[in-house]
Amino acid sequence: MSPTLLLISILLGSTTALRPGFYSETCPQAELVVREILKSAMARESRSVASVMRLQFHDCLVNGCDGSLLLDDSPNMIGEKEALSNIDSLRSYEVIDEIKEALETRCPGVVSCADIVIMAARDAVVLSGGPNWQVRLGRLDSLTASQEASNQIMPSPRANATSLLQLFARFNLSTKDLVALSGSHSIGKARCFSIVFRLYNQSGSGRPDPSIEPGFREKLDELCPLGGDDSVTGDLDATPERFDNQYFKDLMNGRGFLNSDQTLFTSPQTRDYVKMFGRSQTRFFKAFVEGMIKMGDLLSGHPGEIRRNCRLVNSQPVEVFFEA
Ligand code: HEM
Ligand SMILES: *[C@@H]1O[C@H](CO)[C@@H](O)[C@H](O)[C@H]1NC(C)=O
Ligand SMILES: *[C@@H]1O[C@H](CO)[C@@H](O)[C@H](O)[C@H]1NC(C)=O
Repeated sequence: MSPTLLLISILLGSTTALRPGFYSETCPQAELVVREILKSAMARESRSVASVMRLQFHDCLVNGCDGSLLLDDSPNMIGEKEALSNIDSLRSYEVIDEIKEALETRCPGVVSCADIVIMAARDAVVLSGGPNWQVRLGRLDSLTASQEASNQIMPSPRANATSLLQLFARFNLSTKDLVALSGSHSIGKARCFSIVFRLYNQSGSGRPDPSIEPGFREKLDELCPLGGDDSVTGDLDATPERFDNQYFKDLMNGRGFLNSDQTLFTSPQTRDYVKMFGRSQTRFFKAFVEGMIKMGDLLSGHPGEIRRNCRLVNSQPVEVFFEA
């Protein structure tokens, strides 16, 4: 990047406030293009919208919503894609690439990858039957990524409510935000890898998690037998292609898939919100949108750029300049 561009990026990074309609002059079709590409991705593979929505969470919690998650490893940097919570698990990066390509054709160098993730996550919810909302835009893409930070921050599917609440509080996300945002597990799938410990050896007990409803446990045991294939996937709730409040009803019936899901009902700190959202889809939708906007407002405060390719920073350092 030229010194002038770098300076502009730094200024933008520190002064730009996110706002709806950020691209209305510079790339008016941006939101339409994102929606259309997501629609066709969904037609090709229904799960892809869930996978895309998850990217917002994994991007925003690690150094803010800055597209750092999307960077491939490079000779100078180990990226986040192979971090503990991401490897063999995050998917549908190619949908983001497809959106980026389409936007670079129409408005080159204008729409950040970080904003694409935010728009796509919203559209994933809408296309699955969930609420619609205006997204705030104007983020910059990071110049680097941190596998170490991702490893330290992203929660384990084994996590209990106490540790999840502590984690979310670090990002100014409330108890209500935690429960509402966990409702994202209303769509999508997870691997046996993420639940075998709770089926056969919860907390080193050699026993299953007692909070799993017995009939459901039989189903899970069949899906994920001890010593079976860890990469087999199961649905995160009973209606995995519909964004609805079924997830919370499942938790109330001991039918949560992950320990980090079921713990929200077994723990007194979070149970009342599970019940509230299980009773009222309207309240769930409202709290979910608020949570997504708060999470989307997490910014890195670091200099950035508009990447041309979401997998690469625009200019790699040119080592030859520094050689004698
Ligand atoms: C509260 C803490 C959370 C934990 C511990 C957690 C953990 C997980 C795990 C372990 C999986 C399955 C991974 C695998 O087995 O490969 C998963 C899937 C998923 N997560 Fe979360 N998650 C959390 C919060 C969130 C949030 C806030 C969002 C989005 C707003 C989200 C969206 C998703 C989606 C949509 C899937 C399914 C993805 C697919 O089908 O490809 N999660 N999550
Ligand atoms: C929750 O998990 C944390 C971290 O693993 C652990 O230190 C703590 O004892 C657990 N709390 C409860 C109530 O199980
Ligand atoms: C949380 O809020 C406090 C007080 O408003 C603020 O100083 C801090 O930067 C916020 N933290 C994050 C991660 O946004």
